[in-house]
Amino acid sequence: MLEMTSITKRFGGLLAVNDVSVRFQRGTINAIIGPNGAGKTTFFNLASGALPPSSGRIVLDGRDVTGLRADQVARLGIARTFQSTTLFDNATVLDNLIVGHRLRTRSNLLDVLLGTRRLREEEAASRAKAREALDFVGLAHLENRLAGDISQEQRKRVAFALALATDPTLLLLDEPAGGVNPEETDGLAALVRKMKAMGLTICLIEHKMDMIMNLADHILVLNHGEKIAEGTPAEVRANPVVIEAYLGSEYADA
Ligand SMILES: Nc1ncnc2c1ncn2[C@@H]1O[C@H](COP(=O)(O)OP(=O)(O)O)[C@@H](O)[C@H]1O
Ligand SMILES: [Mg+2]
Repeated sequence: MLEMTSITKRFGGLLAVNDVSVRFQRGTINAIIGPNGAGKTTFFNLASGALPPSSGRIVLDGRDVTGLRADQVARLGIARTFQSTTLFDNATVLDNLIVGHRLRTRSNLLDVLLGTRRLREEEAASRAKAREALDFVGLAHLENRLAGDISQEQRKRVAFALALATDPTLLLLDEPAGGVNPEETDGLAALVRKMKAMGLTICLIEHKMDMIMNLADHILVLNHGEKIAEGTPAEVRANPVVIEAYLGSEYADA
């Protein structure tokens, strides 16, 4: 479904992502792991069109999407969440979703901010989409709450809903369980499984290894921008290179 071939991203002299090739199969849960600064978020920025690659090719469903803008990539079916969920804290959860939907699918920010006729016409559809997504993530009861008043775990669910509202086929989740407690982490993992069950392809970045090892079908390991390993959870945690660079002995295959 997604195929990245020899993707490289340079920031000045820094190779944030260095010649990485990977394929995500349709309907699978994929994970990207690696130390801080390994290039994981940059990889998401490249896959979602937020940044153009310095070189390499990105193919989604057989279509070359290399160099397309984020709004174009979003319309082709890739959605993402961010490491920290920025919401309009003084607006309701539902309004955040409606505005977020517009921001993700329109190239023209002014359109969104000025409320043009086309926007008003499409707002009803956006509202329905937003409600559907909120319901899916289990937050229907919070639609009229101010975003500033909900918990970190609920913000994570709103982030999922924001991404889902664009009807993605591939969902990129950047640290979806960052800053939430173990019980809530299990709840979020169950939600990721539910998204897989409805046919979505998922890729997540996470440091919580218990979660990843239980959830992922396929793991990509980055270190200093390079792919140092990939495979099933069992393969990755038995790989001496991965243990050395990232996991330590705690997760070595028992
Ligand atoms: N927009 C940017 N400009 C310059 N350097 C960046 C930019 N984004 C990321 N980097 C650098 O690229 C490297 C990889 O960063 P990142 O992808 O955020 O890593 P990770 O998400 O794995 O922690 C880091 O050294 C980071 O400082
Ligand atoms: Mg990151």
